[in-house]
Amino acid sequence: MRLIIISNRLPLTIDKKEGELIYHPSAGGLATGLASLDDSFDRVWVGWPGREFKDEWEQEAIRKDLLGKDLVPVFLNKKDITLYYEGFSNKTIWPHFHYFTQFTTYRDSYWEAYKRVNQKFADAILPLLQPDDLVWVHDYQLMLLPSMIRKVHPDISIGFFLHIPFPSYEIFRVLPWRRAILEGVLGADQIGFHTFGYMRHFLSAAYRITGYEHHFGKLNVSNRLINVDVFPMGINYEKYAFPEFDLYKDDGATKIKQMAKANRLIISIDRLDYTKGIPQRLKAFEQFISLHPRFHGKVSLVMVVVPSRSNVDQYKELKEEVDTMVGRINSTYGTFDWMPIRYFYRSLNFEELITLYQEADIAMITPLRDGMNLVAKEYVASKEKSKKGVLILSEMAGASNELTEALSVNPQDINDMAHKLVTALEMNEKEQRWRLEKMQEKLKKYDVSNWASTFIKEQVSLMEQQKHDNVKRFSEKDREKLLHDFHQAPQKLIFLDYDGTLMDFQPDPQAVVPDEELLEILEKLVAIEGAKVVLNSGRDKQTLEKWLGHFPMDMAAEHGVWIKQNNNWRRNPNVSYEWKKNIRPVLEDLVERTPGSFIEEKDFSIAWHYRRIDKALGEKRVREFRDVLLYLTANLDLQVLEGNKVVEIKNAGVNKGKASLNWVNSQDWDFMMALGDDHTDEDTFEAMPESAYSIKVGIQKTNARFQMLSVSDVRSLLRALVS
Ligand code: UDP
Ligand code: G6P
Repeated sequence: MRLIIISNRLPLTIDKKEGELIYHPSAGGLATGLASLDDSFDRVWVGWPGREFKDEWEQEAIRKDLLGKDLVPVFLNKKDITLYYEGFSNKTIWPHFHYFTQFTTYRDSYWEAYKRVNQKFADAILPLLQPDDLVWVHDYQLMLLPSMIRKVHPDISIGFFLHIPFPSYEIFRVLPWRRAILEGVLGADQIGFHTFGYMRHFLSAAYRITGYEHHFGKLNVSNRLINVDVFPMGINYEKYAFPEFDLYKDDGATKIKQMAKANRLIISIDRLDYTKGIPQRLKAFEQFISLHPRFHGKVSLVMVVVPSRSNVDQYKELKEEVDTMVGRINSTYGTFDWMPIRYFYRSLNFEELITLYQEADIAMITPLRDGMNLVAKEYVASKEKSKKGVLILSEMAGASNELTEALSVNPQDINDMAHKLVTALEMNEKEQRWRLEKMQEKLKKYDVSNWASTFIKEQVSLMEQQKHDNVKRFSEKDREKLLHDFHQAPQKLIFLDYDGTLMDFQPDPQAVVPDEELLEILEKLVAIEGAKVVLNSGRDKQTLEKWLGHFPMDMAAEHGVWIKQNNNWRRNPNVSYEWKKNIRPVLEDLVERTPGSFIEEKDFSIAWHYRRIDKALGEKRVREFRDVLLYLTANLDLQVLEGNKVVEIKNAGVNKGKASLNWVNSQDWDFMMALGDDHTDEDTFEAMPESAYSIKVGIQKTNARFQMLSVSDVRSLLRALVS
């Protein structure tokens, strides 16, 4: 198995100085994290080398150079860089997904470029793909790519990981391109996030915008099972805990050591980005030194700001703001022998970075929003030997879910951040040690290899699941056998549920009128010699009669209260309806409190539907009134049935299974089949003999022998039966 990693940025950024190509490692969590994966995966990495290369010969030279490193470049031109990278990626999605909606730019030309460049990546990858490859697409710049690959390779296994937060539905819904973005991502088989919160937001947006419902993170999209899960990214622990380098060969690292001798160090390291909370951090530091003169001359803030996306306006403005603040603080509080802030606007090499981590008493990492934040994890790992150091960490960083022993702060709470600096500086060594040890234990276990291998393992097992029987998938072979058995059998019995089986679910139950295709299929099916077709439904008999009564077809309505055989309706004699008048007021009260929900009253049952309202609200209401209903129905022979966005109260003695026995036991059948989607259909499946073809539509647990994913699968089977 080969892993194809695709990200906007390659782990190597290529620059040009005086005609020479210079390769240096890319900054940013995605590149540093993934690049430090060990070699246990045979992999190819496809991405952009970080600037424009116009000349063909130059592109060819780079391509050749990178091939040896298993890297494949995707070249972007000036327009791509301006509109796709700086534009849609970093002026639309980046601010929006980090809750900086005031910076979100809505521009069609950006969106068009985003689509075009995603397609450019697809075009670069498609010729490389081999059937057993596992494709892993990374991050917000490439959210359309999974579906683009899927279109050409319907069977290839695709993973997608988002390295930034997925915002709440209320934020996400504002984007005019929300549906296309979701559909792009939903081309993947597995979708991963750093935290449960991001995953929850994604599932909620998928449900509300595209209508796909999940069951424990599994979605069924166009007959594909998609797994959505949480995979918090780790670091290469060993690399930061036991760094291999000769400190004294590196001048920068030596100077950092000297600096640490003079003062206790607080470090702050991030790309220059408005999500990182740099001005707030500076304010907190300023407040700290202004309130606590005893630390003057003893503590310095070493602030490393790595240049990033410097063509984007907000980044330029932030640079000016930070420069001004640092200048002001240093000039106000600095002395001839003490500089409160040591400020560096550049990236560090590994030796400098690790020395800074090792020497720092405190790391102050306080982003306003951050998908994960690897710097926090790297700092903790670098304290493996010394066990000395305190991490102050924003609760808005994904990492705060795991690094629970850090001093947690709200990055907008300047007072608290200033106060936590004192707490950190005064923390005794014993406490520093236990906090670090606890965090280190987690980071060792959940390192970056663990992250990648867990993601890949789950994706591989999903592939197996998609192929095999974890859901009892109705395979091509099963289908052939069924068709063969059906055509051989002289006497055949077929049970069909209606909603969710023959017809897709809709907010208005009265709108689920049979369409042309269904009518045509049924007409042919009932005409097949020796075939008895029974519509086994929870709907009332009037509706069934109105829609499908003209076919020579038997029916069971209201879960078997009414039975239609030989064109005659008869009622189950053991059912009553007097109880409905006691139950109805409870349901009416419920409707009063829950606009959008409604009551459906049938002859012998009554139902409360919540298909038009928020599912979670409906479920909350069900929980609230379940007890009242159980109490009211306790001494009556009634059953409270929770279905798909409906609660139905009906006579206990009737169910679809018992109804089906009217036909099952009426003669010898050579072939039996039952199709249904709801758990009311489980009774039918159970009433069938073992040899029958019982087929559940959906991915939930079932007593049926087989499972299909959707109504369109059912239609396709029925079409095959009648052709
Ligand atoms: N980093 C770097 N050069 C530097 C400073 C930091 O390569 O001068 C690395 C750092 O080690 C970390 C990454 O950049 O692995 C930053 O990742 P993080 O998740 O903290 O933030 P992001 O930049 O992805 O938003
Ligand atoms: C974040 C993003 C990455 C990105 C990195 C650096 O970590 O999640 O996708 O590569 O920032 O940003 P840049 O725009 O320089 O690639």
